[in-house]
Amino acid sequence: MENIGIIGFGNMGESFVAGLRTKFPEITFAVVEKLSSRAKVAIDRYSAMDCTGDWVRFFSHVDIVILAVKPQDAESLLREISPYSQGKRFISIMAGKQISFLQKYLQTSYISRFMPNLAAMYGKAVIGVSFPEGSSAPSSELESFKTACLQIAEAVGKPIPIPERLMPMMTGLSASGIAFVFQFIHAMALGGVKTGLGYPSAVEATLQVVEGAVEVLRKTGEIPSAWITRVTSPAGTTIEGLQVLEETAFTAAVMGAVEAASRRAKELEGV
Ligand SMILES: NC(=O)c1ccc[n+]([C@@H]2O[C@H](COP(=O)([O-])OP(=O)(O)OC[C@H]3O[C@@H](n4cnc5c(N)ncnc54)[C@H](OP(=O)(O)O)[C@@H]3O)[C@@H](O)[C@H]2O)c1
Repeated sequence: MENIGIIGFGNMGESFVAGLRTKFPEITFAVVEKLSSRAKVAIDRYSAMDCTGDWVRFFSHVDIVILAVKPQDAESLLREISPYSQGKRFISIMAGKQISFLQKYLQTSYISRFMPNLAAMYGKAVIGVSFPEGSSAPSSELESFKTACLQIAEAVGKPIPIPERLMPMMTGLSASGIAFVFQFIHAMALGGVKTGLGYPSAVEATLQVVEGAVEVLRKTGEIPSAWITRVTSPAGTTIEGLQVLEETAFTAAVMGAVEAASRRAKELEGV
């Protein structure tokens, strides 16, 4: 793996650095970070080279740059780095910033867009990965860039290559979706409290249920509805609960949440 540059060493920036360091111990990092306390973390924890304020040094050291500042800081940053961007390789994880927007400033064919989620912190993210269509770059160099991008995404989770038009859907399902899963876990735990468990025990039990459910689906490769029907015995306990879920439109509510988050992500992309 190559020398990686990170611009914006916040939560996500650090997640990528931590994941890459675990997977490729020999990797080196250069960072540019406005907050000196965060730059110090990059230096102390990951022996990163702090290039804040020195773009020439930064771009001379790095092979691939990860853009990890907040979307509202994107445009001023892109203007600043535009003069150094000729032929360089970039990955943007900035939500709502389309490749065509990045292309206005970055003078290169090597741009990839990632949509990770919070679980990148523990190498368990889902990462939507997109590339520009119809690039004029030599195909072998483009292929090696794409391979490197997928390796970088794998360091923080599971990459899913998607056309860029599906990025807002990935945002709804994954970046926002993790909050919906937290909400479900909270709700299950409250159900446990209602029936007599303490909240911490109820959360712990729910986490085990969720982990168990994921394991069953992964190990068997079967779809959720197959297991729901198997768990649900005639006139048993599960069907009682499922009826309440459907009376309160649980499935429609979750579908609506994913759709609403995706719609908002699309609005933020300005399309
Ligand atoms: N967190 C998620 O779950 C998630 C999911 C998907 C995508 N993303 C994307 O990931 C990106 C980073 O998110 P985050 O949660 O890691 O944000 P964050 O914690 O705020 O990190 C961004 C860091 O970049 C610094 N910064 C801003 N402008 C800079 C510049 N021009 N040069 C150098 N450093 C600069 C910020 O400093 P200041 O605070 O001083 O401005 C901050 O320390 C965002 O674009 C977000 O859309 C995040």
